[in-house]
Amino acid sequence: MGFDRLWRGGRLATMAPDRAGLGLIEDGAVATRDGRIAWIGAVADLPRDVTADEVIELDGRLVTPGLIDCHTHLVFAGDRADEFEMRLRGETYETIAAAGGGILSTVRNTRAASQDQLVATALERLDRLMAEGVTAIEVKSGYGLNLDSELKMLRAARALGELRKVEVVTSLLAAHTVPPEYRDDRAAYVALIVDAILPAAVREGLADSVDAFCETSAFSPAEVRRVFEAARAHGLPVRLHADQRTAGGGAGLAAEFGALSADHLERTDAAGAAAMAAAGCVAVLLPGAFYALRDETAPPITLFREAGVRMAVATDCNPGSSPLTSILTALNLSVILFGLTVEEALLGVTREAARALGRFDRLGSLEVGKACDLAIWDATRPVELAYWLGRNPLRSRVFRGEMV
Ligand code: NIG
Ligand code: FE
Repeated sequence: MGFDRLWRGGRLATMAPDRAGLGLIEDGAVATRDGRIAWIGAVADLPRDVTADEVIELDGRLVTPGLIDCHTHLVFAGDRADEFEMRLRGETYETIAAAGGGILSTVRNTRAASQDQLVATALERLDRLMAEGVTAIEVKSGYGLNLDSELKMLRAARALGELRKVEVVTSLLAAHTVPPEYRDDRAAYVALIVDAILPAAVREGLADSVDAFCETSAFSPAEVRRVFEAARAHGLPVRLHADQRTAGGGAGLAAEFGALSADHLERTDAAGAAAMAAAGCVAVLLPGAFYALRDETAPPITLFREAGVRMAVATDCNPGSSPLTSILTALNLSVILFGLTVEEALLGVTREAARALGRFDRLGSLEVGKACDLAIWDATRPVELAYWLGRNPLRSRVFRGEMV
């Protein structure tokens, strides 16, 4: 039996759903052929006739699937450090936004930036995430808010996937907030999304899914519904920023449309959690935004557990509410601030994150046939990935079977 590469002698956290917990295989081996996992199991069970072009000894190290950051706003121009200082002095995210700052301040910078500038600044952030073992990342638009700039953002996101060994999944988030030129005619902006921006993104193959921000300061459930109906007509899956700052029935709305995920969810109630469970909608938890906004209402983890809602964890990397470029820090925050178990948190950046992206058929667990994307750690116990703050135990990253 011949493989391109074989890793042996490690603790494999497979995240396979047919195994308990993290699906650990002690003294395990994993082999790749043509970028996929061709064999995985205990070293003792390796076929006798096994050969590989390269054999790597793991010396007991922990191996996980490559990590997946399933919710980011990685592409943007400028920063909002000045607004951070205003918040430190007592202003709120909402008062800053109402005065024309917030998302709209990043919109001004992003509209003024070239695609190349957007790519260059996003790459710096992407490299930090990849250095922590990230092999797949979701990237949203939402700071363009017109046809040209939304497409420019999505093209920049696609370019990231060509420039780096990482899988990029895009979401069209034109429904992030109403741009100033449509302030007095919101319906016309929703119509622009539905009639122009979304169809153009689909034509160019730029959007893998459609997202929206359902919030009193952004879009109402009725407005989100129009955007989601258009997405459905184009055959695109949806996901939703839901119940973050105010309880707006966002979780139920996401479930009603069979959304891949509903995200944030600080103010989701039991009915919302039940609807999500029934729809198989993943709860994407974003502790970076909760932390940076000094929110005091954590998402209802107990309700999600009781209802059987799957939970993912992501950075929400963005210049306003979550200037976080570390998936390992997101792990730490999720166990400290939200009370996830280490197991839940690790499944949340692998298997459940893959589900939130609709890509669990290819990513998110170590199983034969899946992409051979691995994170190999200078650690032996899974808890070490959530334990350190600011220490990165990654030893190597494998993308499609290649050491990178
Ligand atoms: O996920 N909640 C809405 N959107 C972003 C924030 C974007 C921004 O402040 O620039 C979020 O937190
Ligand atoms: Fe977000």
